[in-house]
Amino acid sequence: ADHYGVTSDYSIHVDSNNTIYSNEYIESKYMYEMNHCEVDHRAQRVEIVPRKYQYNFRTQRQVQRTGVMLVGWAGNNGSTFTGATIANREKITWMRKEGEQFPNYYGSLTQSTTIRIGSDNEGKEVHIPFNTILPMLHPNDIVIGGWDINSANLYEAMKRAYVFDYELQEKLKPKMAELKPLPSIYYPDFIAANQEDRADNLIPKGTKQQDLEHIRNDIRTFKKNNNLDKVIVLWTANTERYVDVRQGLNQTSDEILQSIAANEDEVSPSNIFACAAILEGCPYINGSPQNTLVPGIIELASKHSVFIGGDDFKSGQTKLKSVLADFLVSAGLKIESIVSYNHLGNNDGKNLSAPQQFRSKEISKSNVVDDMVGANHLLYNKKKNEHPDHVVVIKYVPFVKDSKRAMDEYISSIFMNGLNTIAIHNTCEDSLLASPLIIDLVILTELLTRITYKTHDSEQYQSFEPVLSILSYLLKAPVVPPGTPVINALFKQHRCITNILSACAGIAMDTDMLLEHKTN
Ligand code: NAI
Repeated sequence: ADHYGVTSDYSIHVDSNNTIYSNEYIESKYMYEMNHCEVDHRAQRVEIVPRKYQYNFRTQRQVQRTGVMLVGWAGNNGSTFTGATIANREKITWMRKEGEQFPNYYGSLTQSTTIRIGSDNEGKEVHIPFNTILPMLHPNDIVIGGWDINSANLYEAMKRAYVFDYELQEKLKPKMAELKPLPSIYYPDFIAANQEDRADNLIPKGTKQQDLEHIRNDIRTFKKNNNLDKVIVLWTANTERYVDVRQGLNQTSDEILQSIAANEDEVSPSNIFACAAILEGCPYINGSPQNTLVPGIIELASKHSVFIGGDDFKSGQTKLKSVLADFLVSAGLKIESIVSYNHLGNNDGKNLSAPQQFRSKEISKSNVVDDMVGANHLLYNKKKNEHPDHVVVIKYVPFVKDSKRAMDEYISSIFMNGLNTIAIHNTCEDSLLASPLIIDLVILTELLTRITYKTHDSEQYQSFEPVLSILSYLLKAPVVPPGTPVINALFKQHRCITNILSACAGIAMDTDMLLEHKTN
């Protein structure tokens, strides 16, 4: 056969004493090197002490039978993700004026990207598909279910989303029409008032404690009926307003559970879903910007050793922003102003036209350049807390439907105080950007539940931190373990995840030095 590259059907094998394969596990020894720095401002001296830490990683090889339960299943993302997965699984093709179309997984980190792992005898670089580095779930095998406050079946949901071509919708119809979201929880105070007419698929009215039990029971039933090893709960429902975070309400795990028991008004539907998932031992991912993952819920996840991740899918504008801002600041150019306009005409846009829900989005979109600005004190005076102006505008324009428009203007100070203005216009179906992220979030979360590690001073293998900051690449406002840095720069996030997986596989990570080509 001709060799045009390594495909997902290949298996990779590392020939080293540091990687051991057994039937059950891939075990790797990894030496983590980092610099400990002491900055003495008086002596104007930085003392760097290299430190080495031995990590042993162990990855369970058997992929678990996994289901995802989407909150907001009948939304644009939910129906696009579901339809795309079915089209790929069933190899459904469709016609449009350009000719026959084939389904793909473009935009998915795990399905459509490669990792450079080294070079062959001829010095040619070898790239492997991301999903071959360690055993991973295939998106076609994800069992999909979920809830929605709206009773539309998935065919109707897909139709009103205006995302897929007509013929694809028709071909998906028999499968999609059978899928019906479970009734959900609706507390009108948390999403925009303009969503009220959607709320026709609700669980019987009761207390918040009963709501929690109801959702826990739904998760158990879904798991049992589909014979699953693992269920991941992912919020892709409407953006909620922020909840208050205060003592007595949700600062500790006891407080949040007591607040639910006391039917406290300030507990949101997403708070209930997160608690239900955690109490059922299921990872919970927040694809929207609201602050669901309050300290009490983080503590609850920690107590139950369950993974949580969030917030807000990092799809179009923010992804580009976290590349462009990184590029400008890394080039020594001082961004002075970033103004981002969006208009969109889907139900998300409608919901975000209400001030409190817009505010949630504004917050999650606003902090995305902080780490890059903070990393360059030569450009931004730390004492004056200097920072670029950053404004985000979102408008609801029904006509454009799911085809979101994003316009960004970046103004930077350059050499000798000149100004450089970059304007960007982006048009794209919003759900076609977000759905591949759902796929990756599910696949990577499932993988991370199979990885454990130990260090030289621990006897037992343990799981990663319950707050999955490793997923930052996919999220706009990454939630991180308390007291740890937030990274927004896209390629740092990318290296974080590829390097950790490389370490787990026992592969030396790509340093980009290519010394073999620069030395004799
Ligand atoms: P959508 O409005 O089409 O779908 C949301 C669905 O959630 C609706 O079907 C609604 O009926 C349902 N819903 C609302 N409250 C619910 C509850 N308590 N329980 C169950 N279902 C509930 O919105 P879309 O476009 O699918 O986006 C979903 C979320 O993802 C939004 O919060 C959006 O801000 C967020 N997001 C989307 C991105 C994108 O590129 N599409 C990017 C980043 C975040």
